[in-house]
Amino acid sequence: MLKNDHSDIPLRVVGECRAQLGEAALWDYRTETLFWVDILGKTLFAYATSSSSVISVPLAVQVSALALRRKGGLVAATRDGFAWLDAGTGELEFITDPEADRPGNRFNDGACDRNGNFVAGTMDDGEQTPSGSIYRLAGDLSVDRLAGDYVICNGPAFSLDGQTMYFSDSASRRILAFPYDPASGPLGRPTLFRKLADDEGYPDGVTIDEEGFLWCAHWGGGRLTRFDPAGRPERTIRLPVRNVTNSAFGGPDLDRLFITTAGEGRGVENSNIDPRSGVVFEANVGIRGIPEPEFAN
Ligand code: BGC
Ligand code: CA
Repeated sequence: MLKNDHSDIPLRVVGECRAQLGEAALWDYRTETLFWVDILGKTLFAYATSSSSVISVPLAVQVSALALRRKGGLVAATRDGFAWLDAGTGELEFITDPEADRPGNRFNDGACDRNGNFVAGTMDDGEQTPSGSIYRLAGDLSVDRLAGDYVICNGPAFSLDGQTMYFSDSASRRILAFPYDPASGPLGRPTLFRKLADDEGYPDGVTIDEEGFLWCAHWGGGRLTRFDPAGRPERTIRLPVRNVTNSAFGGPDLDRLFITTAGEGRGVENSNIDPRSGVVFEANVGIRGIPEPEFAN
């Protein structure tokens, strides 16, 4: 039995779509739609809560992170750099690729900071080499490299005041907290927010709620943990699948938590795998999210 175990809350499966690598949950308050992607399956999913239907849109390249664009539509991190994404057609218009010279890398997770810069990290596709970096795409479409030498970049999420960037250095099982200035300059040195134990899996996507607590998805750990701002676990929700990748608050009142998951990954053949691996779960956790900032362009 886990301390502060909230695993008895009802979970609902959204739309029955199974992704190989479900990620990038994003609530679009403008259209009351939840978006997410299957990175490896190159698909965008859109769940219109008004009609309760899920639409799948094929994508030409792997898309791994999404944010709302101020002018409408979405901005995305993709295998080939940053791009505008038309959610209706799946059409991508490429903006810039800071790692055009690194074909073994791909973009992974990302989110907007409180000033509307889109911050996204890259990773070694083979998950071995510390070749990943964190980049910030500004509203004028310039790109800065903020930090690097990570195997797998996950997150970020930003504190309510915007001055802390939480980041999952997944391969080392560490969640880091960077001092952050969204308006300028490089980041200072990060501090360790939390290191997961070996039996807790790897920290994946992170999300801030209205109280400034951090929700972390556990890849290989079959759960979500909510941490207080000091990095102490406040509650845990166990999920029936192993690879939990990310979460996002959504719904008109931002009181529904949507949780993305993945299949078992490369080369795993096991008849005991839960058939829900790769679905999106929805839970009412009694806490709200905050509106996601839009990309400043
Ligand atoms: C990546 C996966 C990776 C996992 C490990 C995810 O964000 O997209 O490729 O295996 O993190 O934590
Ligand atoms: Ca992720």
